[in-house]
Amino acid sequence: MMMYLAAAIAAYLIGSIPSGLILGKLIWHKDLRDYGSHNIGATNAWRTLGKTAGIAVFIADSLKGQAGVMLGLLLVGTPLAAVVGGLCTILGHSFSLFLRFHGGKGVATSLGVLTMLMGQVTFIIFVIWLTIVYVSRYVSLGSVVAAFLTPFLAALYGYPTEYVLFTAVAAILVILRHRENIERLMHGTENKI
Ligand code: G3P
Repeated sequence: MMMYLAAAIAAYLIGSIPSGLILGKLIWHKDLRDYGSHNIGATNAWRTLGKTAGIAVFIADSLKGQAGVMLGLLLVGTPLAAVVGGLCTILGHSFSLFLRFHGGKGVATSLGVLTMLMGQVTFIIFVIWLTIVYVSRYVSLGSVVAAFLTPFLAALYGYPTEYVLFTAVAAILVILRHRENIERLMHGTENKI
């Protein structure tokens, strides 16, 4: 039990590191919170600072998700611990200890977790996300649809119950974090990439 707690806390702390904010300030000397959607994620980094920044933030945020799962596996070594580590990283990213419990929308970090837990689902979800973004130019639309579909795909591919439950919780979190995007999408005022 103590090791589960240690993994959860360590994963939350790693997730809390605001990669987008740090990279934006250090390399591009801009605070992402002052531009575009005001989000600290890869989409707003791409929109505000350019393609390289977007890719860099995407990789950094995804790596946090992978690190969270690895922490669970290294410290405890069960599928449940992998899920706890991944989920706590996403929570840290979205409610960062270093940003007064504000943070990102959890898409790249969730994808990082998914890559560690379910390769086939990650691939399908990524293709769906990319297609929607390419056609609509709305990253948020791709993110919300992809989040919604993930638990169904995880169940369809027969992944363990804890993995399927994880995708459901992460999907709810990601969709809730996109509340403002969804409103803007409905009003036709959402930012395009
Ligand atoms: O990953 C976040 C994306 O889905 C939306 O980002 O900056 O358009 O709110 P943004």
